[in-house]
Amino acid sequence: MSKMKPRKDLLDIESLSLEEIEHVLSNAGPFKELFQRSVKKVPTLRGKTVLSLFYEASTRTSSSFEVAANRLSADVTNFSVSTSSITKGESLLDTIETLQAMRSDYIVIRHQSAGVPALLAKHTRASVLNAGDGFHAHPTQALLDAFTFREKFPDLKGKKIVIVGDILHSRVARSTSTIFQKLGVEVAVLGPSSLVPEGRPEFMQRLSSWEDVFDWKPDAVYLLRVQLERQNGQFFPGIAEYHRMYGLNSERLKVMRERGTYLMHPGPVNRGVEVTDEAMGYEKSLIGTQVENGIAVRMSVLHWLKPKTGME
Ligand code: CP
Repeated sequence: MSKMKPRKDLLDIESLSLEEIEHVLSNAGPFKELFQRSVKKVPTLRGKTVLSLFYEASTRTSSSFEVAANRLSADVTNFSVSTSSITKGESLLDTIETLQAMRSDYIVIRHQSAGVPALLAKHTRASVLNAGDGFHAHPTQALLDAFTFREKFPDLKGKKIVIVGDILHSRVARSTSTIFQKLGVEVAVLGPSSLVPEGRPEFMQRLSSWEDVFDWKPDAVYLLRVQLERQNGQFFPGIAEYHRMYGLNSERLKVMRERGTYLMHPGPVNRGVEVTDEAMGYEKSLIGTQVENGIAVRMSVLHWLKPKTGME
């Protein structure tokens, strides 16, 4: 008998129980099967409304949430931040009041400041889905990463993944490493020492070079983009140097190919920095699958969360 309590919001991975993670991942499978059918829509959220609010740029997450909500038959409104009254100085709390008055059932929000989705969740009966907040969390990315990796390795215990790049500024690294650790996957990190936080969680083993990576024998390499827009300072000598030290070049790709190591990346990629054109064509790349799975996982999350709308 399940002891799982209804959950209103998805704000991070840390607060999720293993049972909740399992629930979302196992329900994403049937949603993915729908994509093979000629009719991809189900009536699950008919009559419900989803408001999508992106204060930061997004391609994958915003479109994936929109497709997911449409396939569940919800009505989706995309709130355009760049043309809204926010540009006229409206405060976040006043914007939240306005959104509350619209009585949406679900609000998908991405914001440059950590904690904004949690603040919104406190002030609304709608379910709030964090689509990325500052350096803090990107929970649906973590869920889709876990789903994608588990499609290749149904038994995750003892599997290994190394995250390479700008760990310090990455909400993806934080959420994805946490979900993998909860699911029993070993996690290691590689990056310039200035971009790997000293206080990283204990479970993330720190590696110093690609030679260390290959000695550690990961099942997948998870590359991150260098987030220049979040860096206020010089964290490494330059892009060419970064690529030489940490990028997935031909030589490193050759070793991965020989060993059958999978490649993952949350996108967007910076070709010539963390990855080459050649690596983007790698047959064991899961980057496209991550995007496809994002829709199924977000359908599963929308289906799972329970807004408190209609309870006043
Ligand atoms: N992975 C990810 O969050 O991509 P977008 O910034 O395009 O949404």
